[in-house]
Amino acid sequence: MSDSFDVIVIGSGPGGYVCAIRAAQLGMKVACVEKRDTLGGTCLNVGCIPSKALLQSSENYAETLHAWKDHGIMVEGVTLDLARMQARKGEVVGANVKGVEFLFKKNKVTWLKGAGRIVAAGKVEVAGIEYGAKHIVIATGSESMPLPGVTVDETRIVTSTGALELATVPGHLVVIGGGVIGLELGSVWRRLGAQVTVVEFLDRLIPGNDGEIAKQFERVLSRQGMKFKLGAKVTGAVASDTGVVVTVETLKTGKVEDIQADVVLLAIGRRAFTEGLGLAEAGVATDERGRVKTDPHFATNVPGIYAIGDVIAGPMLAHKAEDEGVALAERLAGQAGHVNYAVIPGVVYTAPEVASVGKTEEELKAAGIEYAVGKFPFTANGRARAMGATDGFVKLLADKATDRLLGAHILGPDAGTLIAEIALAMEFGASAEDVARTCHAHPSLNEAVKEAALAVAGRALHI
Ligand code: FAD
Ligand code: NAI
Repeated sequence: MSDSFDVIVIGSGPGGYVCAIRAAQLGMKVACVEKRDTLGGTCLNVGCIPSKALLQSSENYAETLHAWKDHGIMVEGVTLDLARMQARKGEVVGANVKGVEFLFKKNKVTWLKGAGRIVAAGKVEVAGIEYGAKHIVIATGSESMPLPGVTVDETRIVTSTGALELATVPGHLVVIGGGVIGLELGSVWRRLGAQVTVVEFLDRLIPGNDGEIAKQFERVLSRQGMKFKLGAKVTGAVASDTGVVVTVETLKTGKVEDIQADVVLLAIGRRAFTEGLGLAEAGVATDERGRVKTDPHFATNVPGIYAIGDVIAGPMLAHKAEDEGVALAERLAGQAGHVNYAVIPGVVYTAPEVASVGKTEEELKAAGIEYAVGKFPFTANGRARAMGATDGFVKLLADKATDRLLGAHILGPDAGTLIAEIALAMEFGASAEDVARTCHAHPSLNEAVKEAALAVAGRALHI
């Protein structure tokens, strides 16, 4: 055996790299195995970071084209340099992945380059060399879910990875799946000039989010020019040199139609990635969806082997993976690491953004919990008006008897930042009144949160 570590983490995404750093901070000898050429996993290389870089650039472009006139700023001759936009995205990704490499050096985490395979508890093989480990952490993440009849070539029929790399703006982009990836990346290409049609199986967008928010979100995106075929499924897609013919079936009527697309984005969810990891040989149990089974403290059924992030159950979000990485490292060091799954925010980074934390109204109804609702629209918020960003509203849900905050759902400008206030309040077990009595700066978007909190008790001031 070549070398031995206290912890070997397999995978350097937000779950893996954060776990490795925290374990090293706590005095353990740590290695992290990564098969990509760069650290940072899906999130930094082909996920959160490049998508947000393109969302920002495309929003800047769309605003310059359409929004500045209202402010009295006349801009002429605006053109798109997509190659430059893509190069900037590459620079943003490059800086982030290099940042992780720097943090590994700073914390003395060894990067073992190559694919890791678990030989048995306590043993990991990388590039033909076997390493010893007191603890093995599986953090191998997820991959795009395939769809029968739709063969991904990452040129004409793409996953999010190909959709982040397009070298020209497609004339018509058909998106399969009206979830987070479909709407974020659909927004990017819509803003840059593509016609975008989203085909969604359910009769609503962003399932799992508050229904009322999803309905208004659909209206706003429609106004931005996105087309939706809800309650419909794609039964096949045939690519040729000139484009893709997508066959779509409307579920209610059974009507079948062909849509001509230039590019098709397949975004119907992601699934745990464990290929080549040697789970079966090591005896590590997985569930019916191929996710590594863990107990509440991230332990698998094999002593000494743990798993975190997208490869286990729960929302596939970078911050969930990070928090699990920290909690596990702390447990391995004998501390009491813990993740509060009731307070994990989720954000869709469109314009306006959608953000949520805690329970939805649908979930509270299903659980038979009595709740009060407080809502406040951004049309009545001075700062939103000044920004020219009045689409959307804040919706707070509080326990009817105790006033304790149970959930928050926001469609609006900077919703992803606004939700942090409620997440913190919920983490402290705050009531709606606690938020309502907290002094909020004026004029700020956060005042909409305060007003929604006042509205829970029926006493909003500005509506
Ligand atoms: P990953 O980030 O998937 O990392 C796993 C790593 O393990 C990979 O680098 C892989 O190469 C490596 N690996 C796998 N097997 C092996 C092996 N055997 N040996 C060595 N290395 C291996 N989440 C958010 O919270 N916010 C967002 O804005 C957001 N945007 C997204 C946008 C897109 C387009 C996509 C696809 C995802 C987005 N996500 C976002 C989800 C987020 O990327 C994931 O939840 C997160 O990356 C999960 O982290 P992880 O550490 O579990 O796994
Ligand atoms: P998703 O689960 O968000 O959405 C998939 C959508 O596809 C659902 O609405 C589903 O009903 C629909 N669908 C499923 N099968 C279908 C079919 N055959 N035809 C038509 N529609 C179908 O998954 P998505 O968008 O692929 O994202 C994957 C994961 O990545 C998500 O779990 C998300 O958490 C994460 N992510 C997070 C982001 C963020 O936090 N901002 C951004 C991008 C991804």
